[in-house]
Amino acid sequence: MAVNITFHPGSVTSTERTQLLLQKGVTIWLTGLSASGKSTIACALEQHLLKLHKFTYRLDGDNIRLGLNKDLGFDEKSRNENIRRIGEVSKLFADAGCVSITAFISPYLADRAIARKLHHEASLPFVEVYVDAPLQVVEERDPKGLYRKARAGEIKEFTGVSAPYEAPEAPEIHIKTDETEVVDAVRIITEYLISRGYLS
Ligand code: PPS
Repeated sequence: MAVNITFHPGSVTSTERTQLLLQKGVTIWLTGLSASGKSTIACALEQHLLKLHKFTYRLDGDNIRLGLNKDLGFDEKSRNENIRRIGEVSKLFADAGCVSITAFISPYLADRAIARKLHHEASLPFVEVYVDAPLQVVEERDPKGLYRKARAGEIKEFTGVSAPYEAPEAPEIHIKTDETEVVDAVRIITEYLISRGYLS
C-alpha cells in the first residue's frame, strides 16, 4: 500500500518528449492463448515499426518472467500481479514516448481493464489486440510441448486446459491467426494506429 507517498511531478511534459522523439507513446496490448501468435506478431510488428523509424519496446511474457516477474507463478493471484506490473511498466514506456508492445496471455478481463484504465487516466492510448486462435489449433501447434504436458497433468493451471481464458469483449483489433498471415496482422495493426493518429 502506498502510504505516506506523494507524487512528485517533473517539469518536462509528455508533449515535450513527443516533440523530441517525433512520435507519440502508445501501448499495443496483445492478448491470447499460449501459441496463439502473440510473440510472433509482436516481433514482426517491432521489426516493421523499426523500418518506419519508430522507437518501440517489446514486453513478452516468457522474457519478463525470467527477470522482473521471476517471483510469480501461474495461479490466479500471480497472474493478476503479473498483469498489474506489466500494465504499469507499459504505461511508463508509453509515457516516455515509446510504442510499447506487450505480449502476455493476460487471461482475465478485469486485469486488462485495469491496465486500460491506468493508460486512460494518464491520457495514453491503449490498443487491445485479441490474438485469436481456437484451442484445437493452438494445441496442434504446441511449439513448446506445453499443451501436451498440461493434458498429461504435468503442468497445473494451464490456460485453456485447466485455467480460464476470458476473451476480450470489445478489443480495438481482433486477429484470427488461423486465417491471417503475420504480415497481414502487422499491416492491420499499423493501419489502425495510423487511422487513430497514434502513428504518423
Ligand atoms: S499470464 O497468464 O499473462 O500471466 O502469462 P504470461 O506472463 O503471458 O506467460 C505465459 C507463458 O508462460 C509459459 N507457461 C504458461 N502459460 C500458461 N499457463 C501456464 N500454466 C504456463 N506455464 C508456463 C508459456 O510459455 C507462455 O508463453 P506463450 O508465449 O503465451 O506461449
